[in-house]
Amino acid sequence: MSIVIKGGTVVNADRSYRADVKVEGETIVEIGDNLSGDSALDAGDCYILPGGIDPHTHLDMPFMGANSADNFESGSKAGVSGGTTMVVDFCIPNRNQPLMEALADWHERGKNAVADYSFHMAISYWNDQVRDDMEKVVKAGVTTFKHFMAYKGSLMVNDEEMFASFSRCAELGALPLVHAENGDLVAALQRHYLSKGITGPEGHALSRPPDVEGEATNRAIMLADQAGVPIYIVHTSCIQAHEAIARARALGKRVYGEPLIQHLVLDESEYYDKDWKHAARRVMSPPFRDKANQDDLWNGLRAGSLQVVATDHCSFTTKQKELGFGDFTKIPNGTGGLEDRMPVLWTHGVETGRMTPNEFVAVTSTNSAKILNMYPRKGVIAPGADADIAVWDPKAMKTISAKSQVSVIDYNVFEGMTVTGLPRYTLSRGEVVFRDGRVQAEIGRGRFIARQPFAEEARALKRYKAFTAPRAVAR
Ligand code: URP
Ligand code: ZN
Ligand code: ZN
Ligand code: ZN
Repeated sequence: MSIVIKGGTVVNADRSYRADVKVEGETIVEIGDNLSGDSALDAGDCYILPGGIDPHTHLDMPFMGANSADNFESGSKAGVSGGTTMVVDFCIPNRNQPLMEALADWHERGKNAVADYSFHMAISYWNDQVRDDMEKVVKAGVTTFKHFMAYKGSLMVNDEEMFASFSRCAELGALPLVHAENGDLVAALQRHYLSKGITGPEGHALSRPPDVEGEATNRAIMLADQAGVPIYIVHTSCIQAHEAIARARALGKRVYGEPLIQHLVLDESEYYDKDWKHAARRVMSPPFRDKANQDDLWNGLRAGSLQVVATDHCSFTTKQKELGFGDFTKIPNGTGGLEDRMPVLWTHGVETGRMTPNEFVAVTSTNSAKILNMYPRKGVIAPGADADIAVWDPKAMKTISAKSQVSVIDYNVFEGMTVTGLPRYTLSRGEVVFRDGRVQAEIGRGRFIARQPFAEEARALKRYKAFTAPRAVAR
């Protein structure tokens, strides 16, 4: 069975051109003029984009006394309704849970996805068993390891543990990821604001100022450099963190930064002088920042010092947020955005001229595929690639509302925002899974995408370190 997507403009990260795209089974087989096939999809006036990849989600995750409300079914349905055909979700072992057991748990969770997914593994504690098991995890197709520098007392790892894990990543050709906030400082600031009687969601923002993130970002980058491994900083939200990343890149280090769509368009005013529910629904870490920080993230995406736009989709219902009524430190951290990431970025990025359609494709799909080692199977419209495609109508409009969303939570942080640019069709491995504004996909059709280690990069770094090592001091 073949499908031809007719009359659109192919937009890849490097260029755009008018062409039909032919899909046979799960794969793109041909791109050219006047193609024919068993059936056709009308892409007149549309762009044909590589399906979005969200490199950072937390579906069905137990966290801070709650379980994130969107699971792999509702999360992947939300994704495809907004043009995202793949997520990379975080497998988070409980303290002392063997890594491979946690991975088996996450594979169980992933079984109801309607589109493809991959995993990162969190290193939330450290011992010799973890060191050994990291190799098994890599062999099982999970080649990225996440470290939390915040969440003291639960997920946080200290510098010694992080350095040991980074060094292990270097040996395995794996890529470390870091949630960069100084967890000790956050804990101290939380105690400070609580003691001043600040118990509402504004205390969350006050206790996590940009320097908390900037310090940790610098530290993580230096530790990775000492370990001889590239590093990926998740949810980069402020000037200080971006500066650390840009400086390291200018010094030749392989460092990647990931702003979230929320931080690009929502600001800290969401936490102040608002009703409790409004503010608590927007509690996430790092918190939303001010306009200057937003502008800086947009600049980084355009300049290439920041590479990808994610959501950190970790959706909690209002009722779950109420666990933190009277104490902001107990509000489950996280917001949603999976179905809105691409339309909101198109509206605030491409429509405003802040980015080109090609840059949009780079930061929503191609760069993630490359950095996470899935390219060119994912992240490009090209013969041989998986037919993960968003047929994108740049003129289609809607007003975002919780009432019409696919995500199962009872609010939307972008409520009332009118967006221009929506998928007309979304294809996942050759199957039309979204059309006419509706998801139509069999539960469980999504597949786990195993990834290879970054062997070449690790070898190159090792050679370079040996080449540049200081000579022993003569005595
Ligand atoms: O607030 C957030 N970001 N919640 C999800 C967990 C994390 O820190 O990524
Ligand atoms: Zn995080
Ligand atoms: Zn409100
Ligand atoms: Zn996260």
